[in-house]
Formats: sequence, structure tokens, C-alpha cells
Amino acid sequence: MINIALPKGRLGEKVYKLFAAAGYEFPGMLDNNRKLVFENEELNMRCFWVKPFDVPVYVERGTADIGAAGKDILLERNPDVYELLDLKAGFCRMAVAAKNNFQDDPEKILRVATEFPNIAKNYYSSIGREIDIITLRGSLELAPVLGLSDVIVDIVETGTTLRENNLSVINFIEDLSARLIANKSAYKFKGNIIDEIIRKVS
Ligand code: PRP
Repeated sequence: MINIALPKGRLGEKVYKLFAAAGYEFPGMLDNNRKLVFENEELNMRCFWVKPFDVPVYVERGTADIGAAGKDILLERNPDVYELLDLKAGFCRMAVAAKNNFQDDPEKILRVATEFPNIAKNYYSSIGREIDIITLRGSLELAPVLGLSDVIVDIVETGTTLRENNLSVINFIEDLSARLIANKSAYKFKGNIIDEIIRKVS
């Protein structure tokens, strides 16, 4: 049996549609209910919805053989898994944003609000800037608007959220998209099936 972890939400639905179009269908997965685990006996596969941030945990520990995770989450969690395929869905960017009139003072410690403390730390250590990390759970745009932070390190897709809150991108960090990841020992023992899935969904 192959176990597949998909991220619950918009990105996961896009990825599920790629799987379904490739012949890996799990009836009921897109129904609006609270069921989390779906099995296709014919394929001998099981697919389940997990919180996006948790996909690498299920895959690293082998509960899922494969999974789909945003590159942002992989960079943040740095799991010990194989990253096998760019699923070319959910394109966006990790960036630093600040108020439109923000004037950086390089002498001051920069207050950075983010949901991605490791990505932020890595980025600022790569440019040698001392920062004070403020970890938040979503709606990051509020932080510079209300003065909690100087900047945010966040995902930018269309840029609408920044624009509507009078913020703009000041530094680009990384291009992001959904990636197919695999548990290392599952790939060793079920590599043929996983490679076939990759061929069909890519
Ligand atoms: C993400 C991100 C931005 C927004 C960017 O938030 O954190 O807030 O999307 O998208 P845009 O550039 O198209 O406006 P999400 O909707 O995932 O919710 P969150 O704020 O709770 O993280």
C-alpha cells in the first residue's frame, strides 16, 4: 500500500486534481466534509489530508510514503526526505515586505515578524544583519502596520494583501511552489511505484 499525505487547503486541492487527472482518484476527497482519510482499494493506495505544515512530519516518519508540501515549509522545517518533483502548482515568492515609506536604519536591530523563523534567520544571517524575530501565526501584514515589527518575511502571491495594507516588497528571498517529497526508506523499497506516480503526475 502507498500512503500519500496532501496539504489540506487550496494548494492540496490543486495537487489532488493533478493526481486525479493522472488516474489516482480517491472518491470523496473534494467533497465538503470533515473526512480525512480516503482509500482506493483498486490502486492499493491511501490518501489523507494533513495540515500543510505537518506534511513533512508524516513523510519523514514514514506514515506517508510520499506527500506534497510547499517549498516554504520544506525550507522552514528542513525534513530528512527526498524532494523528487516540482509539482508546478502554487507558485509564489518568499519576500521581505515593509510599509511603503519604510526607511531602514542598518545600525538598528531589525524587528522581523514571520511565520517562518528559520527562513528569516537564514536569510538575514546570509546578509549579516542582526534581527529580532517575532513569530506569528498568519495575518503578518498587521505587524508593520501596527508597529509590532519593522518588516515581515512572508509569502507573496498576487501582492494584493501587501498593496491593500500599504506595504511593499523590499527584498526577494526565494521562489516557491509545491514539491513532491518521499520518505527515504519508502523510496528504497517502493521506488518503482513512486517513480511511476512521478511520471504520471509530471
Ligand atoms: C498568505 C500570505 C499573505 C497572502 C499573500 O496568507 O501570508 O498574507 O497569502 O497572498 P497575495 O499576495 O495573493 O495577497 P494566507 O492567505 O495563506 O493566510 P494567513 O495570513 O493566515 O497566513
